[in-house]
Amino acid sequence: MAETRHLLEVRNLVHEYPGSAGKRAVDDISFVIREGETFGLVGESGCGKTTTGRMLVRLLDITSGSVTFDGEDITHLKGKELLAFRRQAQIIFQDPYASLDPRKKVRDIIAEGIDIHKLAKDKADRDDQVSRLMASVGLRPEHLTRYPHEFSGGQRQRIGIARALATRPRFVVCDEPISALDVSIQAQVVNLLREEQRKRGLTYLFIAHDLSMVKYISDRIAVMYRGRIVETGPSNLVYNHPLHPYTKSLISAIPLPDPETERERRRIPYAGEGLEGSLQEAESEHFVLMK
Ligand SMILES: Nc1ncnc2c1ncn2[C@@H]1O[C@H](COP(=O)(O)OP(=O)(O)OP(=O)(O)O)[C@@H](O)[C@H]1O
Ligand SMILES: [Mg+2]
Repeated sequence: MAETRHLLEVRNLVHEYPGSAGKRAVDDISFVIREGETFGLVGESGCGKTTTGRMLVRLLDITSGSVTFDGEDITHLKGKELLAFRRQAQIIFQDPYASLDPRKKVRDIIAEGIDIHKLAKDKADRDDQVSRLMASVGLRPEHLTRYPHEFSGGQRQRIGIARALATRPRFVVCDEPISALDVSIQAQVVNLLREEQRKRGLTYLFIAHDLSMVKYISDRIAVMYRGRIVETGPSNLVYNHPLHPYTKSLISAIPLPDPETERERRRIPYAGEGLEGSLQEAESEHFVLMK
């Protein structure tokens, strides 16, 4: 396989929230995301996934470390350059209820990026772009004058997806895009994201709590624990041959489909071991935190 280009390179990334007294929400993480791939980021609540995603699209300041995007250092971009980068890097938010302004019509929510980046020639072009986006995410274009509360959770997440796609980005952070949705519609939203990725050649950072779903959609995965990456590698290797005790514990928590074996399943406890050292390549492209 030909070596794929790195769209993002993340080096020694740190985030410390103001007033957190030296506690790092993200504590020195490094990884690359290849053009066109889905890179999964998993770990339990509070481990630093959203903080990481928001730094990568420059919605949150980078305390230290660096991020390059398509070869350009975007860590400290300001003004026009920051705006130009933001057009290319969008985010779908974790909570489809809190992330849509309740006073705005769907048309204006979806058109936010079109307006900010001046991507429409005139009003007719703007409306046309919004209608196409709505159709592509499976919303009825005649609903464009409705308000967010008139939509279900799944439809709201489709609005969030349309808003993210409106600027024609190259990179999208999908921050737990389905965890707030009914199980019955989760697969539809994942399929929509995959379909758009294929059509548009998008690169995704896909954030999730557990490995059971991300392993299907991600090419590679990083497992986070308390602000650090403890293991990273191709999805099938991380899932089928976990090396770090935390990853083993996380996988042992996934319910099994067969009731017979599910009855025998035991959660492997994790007591915080193996957090010293650095990421080292244990097998081809598979890295684990060790001394
Ligand atoms: N605005 C903030 N101010 C201070 N601390 C914060 C803020 N947002 C998050 N944190 C803290 O930073 C750490 C990482 O939070 P983050 O939201 O990145 O975790 P997460 O992995 O996305 O969790 P979840 O799975 O629940 O979404 C947590 O300890 C959290 O309490
Ligand atoms: Mg989060």
